[in-house]
Amino acid sequence: MPWPSTADDPVLDLIRKEEARQNSTVQLIASENFASPAVMAATGSVLTNKYSEGYPGKRYYGGNMVVDDIEDEARRRVCALFGAEHANVQPHAGAVANMGVYQALLEPGDTVLGMSLDHGGHLTHGSPVNFSGLQYHFVSYGVTASDERIDFDEVAAKAHAEKPKMIVAGATAYPRIIDPQPLRDIADEVGALLMFDAAHIAGLIAGGQHPNPLPLADVMTFTTHKTLRGPRGGCILTREEFGAKIDKAIFPGIQGGPLEHAIAAKAIAFGEAATEEFSAYAARIVENANALAEALAGHGFRLVSGGTDNHLMLVDLRGFDEELTGKEAQAVLDDAGISLNKNTVPDDPRSPFVTSGVRIGTPAVTTQGMGPAEMGTIAELIARALRDRDDLAAVAAVKADAATLCAEFAPYPGLGG
Ligand SMILES: Cc1ncc(COP(=O)(O)O)c(C=O)c1O
Repeated sequence: MPWPSTADDPVLDLIRKEEARQNSTVQLIASENFASPAVMAATGSVLTNKYSEGYPGKRYYGGNMVVDDIEDEARRRVCALFGAEHANVQPHAGAVANMGVYQALLEPGDTVLGMSLDHGGHLTHGSPVNFSGLQYHFVSYGVTASDERIDFDEVAAKAHAEKPKMIVAGATAYPRIIDPQPLRDIADEVGALLMFDAAHIAGLIAGGQHPNPLPLADVMTFTTHKTLRGPRGGCILTREEFGAKIDKAIFPGIQGGPLEHAIAAKAIAFGEAATEEFSAYAARIVENANALAEALAGHGFRLVSGGTDNHLMLVDLRGFDEELTGKEAQAVLDDAGISLNKNTVPDDPRSPFVTSGVRIGTPAVTTQGMGPAEMGTIAELIARALRDRDDLAAVAAVKADAATLCAEFAPYPGLGG
């Protein structure tokens, strides 16, 4: 080989370590999943070597005959999967997909309605520290105080008062179905565009567990690595009329060369998501989320909005223990072999760095083959670790039990030593 051997690079040891961690601890981060071996093979393929600025048939570099076929296939598959007219599969991430849509369809300073971060929206939906909030005039809507579900009256009132150019739907920490119809109706009343950010729920939509925002939304963006179970990346779907503008915004507007290894992996994931097995998987994600939510409620945890319709739940820890913060819960559970993330609950008195809640999702454990019985076990492990958090031996015992559970369901058997 013309290149130096890297077999003893300590980074490879760290990758083995991460393989072992993923195989032996419980992954409950709602935005994570385990990609298939085919998806991972594509991301590690020779396509990482290829430059292909531009789009199929219109590249700035030679040698793209194979890459063109791959990107075309990815576009065809994703359009068929969601019933879209036009797809851009090049965004490196969900945030870039959103940036591309704003750049294509808005002018700096335009008014946009988006869900507030502390009620479940994403940074790119107008957070003041994000490009979205810095470049555009975002006005926030949230959930009601009574049922903690999207306050459509507030959306309508703010839309009529602010006359936004675009309404952004979608969330990063919202446990309920987001019905696109009332948002379409409100957008029509005020002449706004509707963008649906389906980053979290794309796999549930593909698997028939959540209403498809298309064709009601003018644009749908999503990430390919969450419930959809593909490689890390983003995607934009839209009608033909906006296609050219959106393509131009992504390249040359924002990105340079696309990641064709990721695009090939996206194509594989779109193919996997079109199967009956994937629909059954999506149904099991929701079934498991309900089982876990119910079991957690049985241990005294309060669920924001009373439960879940999708792949995630928000747990307000104050019902379990007034003193326990999300920050501490995340740290204790890391020690107990359970990965999740702290999260604000609606109108949280604590800061986003501390929080009163945690977000829990079932996409990864469902991929591993766990079912409702294991959800009961996981709820019990969480309750034990958090209740006995000052007792190091008790937390270590939970970690051992978590490892025993995972040993039966290792996502990547044989990896990680
Ligand atoms: C609703 C939503 N939009 C966009 C993103 C951004 O995706 P990425 O992290 O790939 O940039 C996320 C990520 O969590 C998300 O939840």
